[in-house]
Amino acid sequence: MQQRDSLGYTLGVAAVLCVVCSLAVSTAAVSLRGRQEANVKLDQQKNILDATGLAIGEYGVQANELSASEIDKLNAYVSAKLVDLQTGEYVGDDAQLEKYNLVEEAANPDTSVPIENPVFNPGEPRRPKVMKVYFVKKPGTDKILQVVLPVYGKGLWGTLYGYLALKSDLETIQGLTFYQHKETPGLGGEVDNPRWKAMWDGRKLYDPSGQPAAMVFKGPAPKTDEYAVDGLSGATITSRGVTNLIRYWASDDGYGTYLSKLGKEMNEGTSSSNEGEE
Ligand SMILES: Cc1cc2nc3c(=O)[nH]c(=O)nc-3n(C[C@H](O)[C@H](O)[C@H](O)COP(=O)(O)O)c2cc1C
Repeated sequence: MQQRDSLGYTLGVAAVLCVVCSLAVSTAAVSLRGRQEANVKLDQQKNILDATGLAIGEYGVQANELSASEIDKLNAYVSAKLVDLQTGEYVGDDAQLEKYNLVEEAANPDTSVPIENPVFNPGEPRRPKVMKVYFVKKPGTDKILQVVLPVYGKGLWGTLYGYLALKSDLETIQGLTFYQHKETPGLGGEVDNPRWKAMWDGRKLYDPSGQPAAMVFKGPAPKTDEYAVDGLSGATITSRGVTNLIRYWASDDGYGTYLSKLGKEMNEGTSSSNEGEE
């Protein structure tokens, strides 16, 4: 029998331990993947509900404080479609809608285009050709109350991913939330502060000439400025990043073509809808 203090025994124990631990870690990773993906989806749903103001409007609290059944109830207001941003046309079927992944679409050269606009630029290399947009409607009706647009762009430390909700005129902001970012808590991380987020309600997205104009001011926004919210103190780079990403996604390189088309359809009352439920 091998001696316990021999080199072979020590290496053998270490090897067995390594195998057991790596098996345990990979089993945990595989078995928890489903739950992790479900949590990411739930977090995105909560952010959509916060951007729309539905959680506050219905229950007086942020979506994070709602139970699963309350979230389900509010989700009945939300449906989604895929939009080709160049044409502004709806594309894809329910299966494509279900498996759509923004990050994967943006990374794949076949499903994305480079971002090269010198005026409106979110600091990202590419954007998907197709984006998943969301609608808020009273359950059982076809009238669009809000449109929720996924947006993303560079902050100081990384990419901010969020949702921009527009009221039914498609030019007044309802809300802006970020479900993922790397900004510093207390500085750029104040993009998550409910008081700051609430300032977006009622801000105008476009100026009278149709140019994207919503912005984060440097310092407190003038009361008369209908486009601006207060700057995040000590976080000028994050603030500028938020301005850049909103203006890019509002521009014709982003959702501009789609929003013009949708606006016409809504005015003509032809916004027929067969959106897949979320
Ligand atoms: C540890 C650390 C974290 C920072 N985090 C952020 C941040 O999240 N967002 C940001 O815009 N600036 C951040 N800054 C500050 C920037 O480096 C830069 O100084 C700032 O954006 C300038 O803003 P101000 O003109 O409002 O001071 C951080 C600085 C330090 C030292």
